[in-house]
Amino acid sequence: VTLNGWFYSLRSSGKIKFLLLRDGTGICQCVFIKNNCAKAFEKFSDLTQETTVRVSGIVKADKRSPGEFELSVSKLEILSKAYEYPITPKEHGVEFLMSHRHLWLRSKRQHAIIKIRARIVSAIREFYNNRGFVLVDAPIFTPNACEGTTELFKTQYFDTEAYLSQSGQLYMEAGAAAFGKVYCLGPTFRAEKSKTRRHLIEFWMCEPEVAFIDYLQNMDLAEEMIKYIISSVLSSNEKELETLERDTALLKSYLEAPFERITYHKACEILKQKVADFEPGGRFGANDETILGELFKKPVFIYEYPIEITPFYMKKDLDRGVSKNCDLIAPEGYGELLGGSQREDDLDVLLKSIDEHKLSRDDFAWYIDLRKYGSFVSSGFGLGVERTVAWICKLSHLRETIPFPRMYGRNYP
Ligand code: 4AD
Ligand code: MG
Repeated sequence: VTLNGWFYSLRSSGKIKFLLLRDGTGICQCVFIKNNCAKAFEKFSDLTQETTVRVSGIVKADKRSPGEFELSVSKLEILSKAYEYPITPKEHGVEFLMSHRHLWLRSKRQHAIIKIRARIVSAIREFYNNRGFVLVDAPIFTPNACEGTTELFKTQYFDTEAYLSQSGQLYMEAGAAAFGKVYCLGPTFRAEKSKTRRHLIEFWMCEPEVAFIDYLQNMDLAEEMIKYIISSVLSSNEKELETLERDTALLKSYLEAPFERITYHKACEILKQKVADFEPGGRFGANDETILGELFKKPVFIYEYPIEITPFYMKKDLDRGVSKNCDLIAPEGYGELLGGSQREDDLDVLLKSIDEHKLSRDDFAWYIDLRKYGSFVSSGFGLGVERTVAWICKLSHLRETIPFPRMYGRNYP
């Protein structure tokens, strides 16, 4: 066979040389024996890290080889010599690696992460496609805010202003009325001026929306999806999980028992016991989420947040003062993986809510139409793809979960 790829490393042992070749799919050990390929031996002085090469030879089974096969080489061609490659086996700082992200992606660990990300995205699509959901792509340019007006990216749209989408949800509600069960999967944008390990400026979200299910059934759907994603990665990415030294027994354990479900009220009772200065009534901080995730050792849904701290579109239980929503908190310190709710289907309550949030009824006229022309019980959620990748790969920061991260203070490469 002939392989095209890049020089990864070289080791000599007497008259034999072992070249590790990286071809994008993995790493292959290529064995050069002087008597079989004398010409190739003359070229070794030109082999610098990442030089592009073509090797031809015979495939042989060998248990000692990575992948248990190796190539016994008869011919070596140098296709393009590499200049001094900046990423070497020595330790590099994070900023250096982030500025060389276009090259860093070639390293074993980054390769494993991005392969797992690709599997996660495929698994999400399979999950919905196999259950009769219709893909309804949401627009990126939008006239209005979905998740609060403070984190919007404003841009010019010819003679008017537009915003980059924070969420496709409102469009999915229109989709649910047209198709019953829908989902979108695409990039969303939040101008969050903070550097945390859990936030990106541009991140991908999967948002299903289902007509005629309530917020409790919404949690069933979310749980089934998360379990499907984990199973899919466990069965397809054994090698990558090993490269990342992920504890797969722990991942498997999440498939076995039902996820925990507690109300916001109960979560506050727990946190009051555990955090000295905890004040109930607000959103949970990263530390609070970590504590809740750790307590149950599995994903935990927190549902029914106070109306005052939830967005305008959530279905309100006015008697109890709570919204019919939920967040799913991942264990192992990964925080919120997804957030969702039943939607406010009562026209008058929705109009009042839009006013109370100081939003414009005109901007939301199309959304209000959905309550005028056949309103219905509907629920959905948004799953953060990068948060899911970080948790499944057990990464300490979201910056490695996406090929080219956009963060506060970084828009390069
Ligand atoms: O909780 P959020 O803001 O919910 C929504 O946008 C709803 N409209 C979704 C819906 O009901 N259809 O965001 C959903 C998820 C979060 O749980 C988190 O996983 C992720 O998106 N997320 C982020 N991921 C990375 N960086 C950020 N800045 C993120 N903000 C939210
Ligand atoms: Mg949320």
